[in-house]
Amino acid sequence: MAQENWGSRIGLVLAMAGNAVGLGNFLRFPAQAAQNGGGAFILPYLVAFVLMGIPLLWVEWAIGRHGGLRGFHAAPGMIHSLGKARWLKYVGVFGLFTNLGIAAYYCYIESWTLAYVFHSLIGTFRDVAPTEFFPRYLGQHANSITSLPGQASFWFIVTLLLNTWILSRGLQKGIERAAKIGMPLLLGFGLVLVIRGLTLQSGDPGVVQSPMAGLNFVWQPRMEGLTNPSTWMAAAGQIFFTLSVGMGSIHCYASYLRAKDDIALNAASAGWMNEFVEVVLGGSLLLPIAVAYLGLGATQAATAGGSGFGLGFLTLPTLFNNWGWFAPIAGMMWFGLLFFAGITSSLAMGQPILAFLEDEFQMDRRKGSLLFGALVFALGFFCVWLYPGGAFDEFDFWTGTFSLVVFALLEIWVFAFIFGMERGWEEITRGSDLQVPRIFRFVIRYVTPLFILAVFLGSLVKPQGNDWGGSLKGLFAGQGWTFAPDSVIGKLFHLGEPSCVWFKEGQVTPAFVQDLTRLLLLLVFLGCGVAVWWAFKRRAQGLGEAQP
Ligand code: PHE
Repeated sequence: MAQENWGSRIGLVLAMAGNAVGLGNFLRFPAQAAQNGGGAFILPYLVAFVLMGIPLLWVEWAIGRHGGLRGFHAAPGMIHSLGKARWLKYVGVFGLFTNLGIAAYYCYIESWTLAYVFHSLIGTFRDVAPTEFFPRYLGQHANSITSLPGQASFWFIVTLLLNTWILSRGLQKGIERAAKIGMPLLLGFGLVLVIRGLTLQSGDPGVVQSPMAGLNFVWQPRMEGLTNPSTWMAAAGQIFFTLSVGMGSIHCYASYLRAKDDIALNAASAGWMNEFVEVVLGGSLLLPIAVAYLGLGATQAATAGGSGFGLGFLTLPTLFNNWGWFAPIAGMMWFGLLFFAGITSSLAMGQPILAFLEDEFQMDRRKGSLLFGALVFALGFFCVWLYPGGAFDEFDFWTGTFSLVVFALLEIWVFAFIFGMERGWEEITRGSDLQVPRIFRFVIRYVTPLFILAVFLGSLVKPQGNDWGGSLKGLFAGQGWTFAPDSVIGKLFHLGEPSCVWFKEGQVTPAFVQDLTRLLLLLVFLGCGVAVWWAFKRRAQGLGEAQP
């Protein structure tokens, strides 16, 4: 099979930025910032970007280019090629599992944005309040843990077909072109909305205060975040998700580089572009507009849960109604922006799966992308159907929060200690157009892994009420440790649930849905593992497209 490459440097950087810039930038970031004290969140967030995000980007680009040159475009083969041990390839299973799992729920959200573009344009939100529309759209009924939404399923299928079609067109004509069209449009829409939002004035109908209050809230750095472990964990989690690190996605895109293509500058550019879009555009849109109309308290309340769905899909379309004739256009721009952000990211989840099928099973692009679409449909439909029972949140937690940290920890350890920092540094700096400060050798080897390890352990044992100081004191006083319901251990043992029975009054409970979802995810993980095992067995028999 002919080796694919990126068409141009600008195409590469836009595709990589499109990969990173996603729903995370516009929905998750403002919600996380609001939930974690605004300016108190920003400092840990920036530190995590420099000490964890940037080093991981360099490492992942380097692993990707290194693997690509050896004929591997998906994580299992790439990690395998970093050393001699036979288990290394199984570390790469995470790079398939995470993309597949995230794609399942991510494409579902992406499909909402497409539907909302349509409904904004035909003026639906003028007649029906979004708070009424949204649950109906999702097919939710009070007290039911299942839903079978006709409309949402329709848009979900449309979204998947679009993704499949673009993926099947190949790297340059598909992904690269989508990024070249999508990214500028996204930036343009964002800019218009930011200007409109920031020029709101206290006298305008419905406006209770200047939108600057929202900006101040995000931008006034406050030191107290630095001493709060839970702020650190939220910040690190956001850095992971928004940069798409720990997923196998960056690796895959980087595997289409040529031997001497620059990594250091390209990776830094794409990373900084993501940060610009996230902090400057993402931070100047939802929050200032919402704060101007609703005040800070109500805005923060609307971000409960930290996903940003409330603000993005309920609050904002309602507020746009204050903008008269511009309302449908503002809605189209806001959801259009989300859609472009989303699709350039979901393509980046699909390509690693596609590449794995191409490399290992000689599947052609059309069949591979159809198979990806079908898998995402099946998993996604599970999320859609059991959305009210919490299947969606389970997917998000295990694939979008937990698994990335584990993969990042393993890959950076393999890179720095098995592949070795000597060769690693050579990989990162070969052909580079940017002098990488040598201090990063040390950072990659010690600081970043320890940072990730701390995040990992923190998420495992996060204490009740997020009260680290008090809990530690209690621990030393012999009172034991109470895990938070959203710590990994708390989740596993259903600490947040009123009861952990599976059936009650003839109905299955959310605890049942959660365990069922976990079982499904476990099977998906094992399935990816078996696929990797099989692929390498084929290679050993000379069936793979193995190159030295
Ligand atoms: N970084 C993307 C976002 O911010 C999400 C993503 C996850 C993209 C996994 C690619 C792979 O929304």
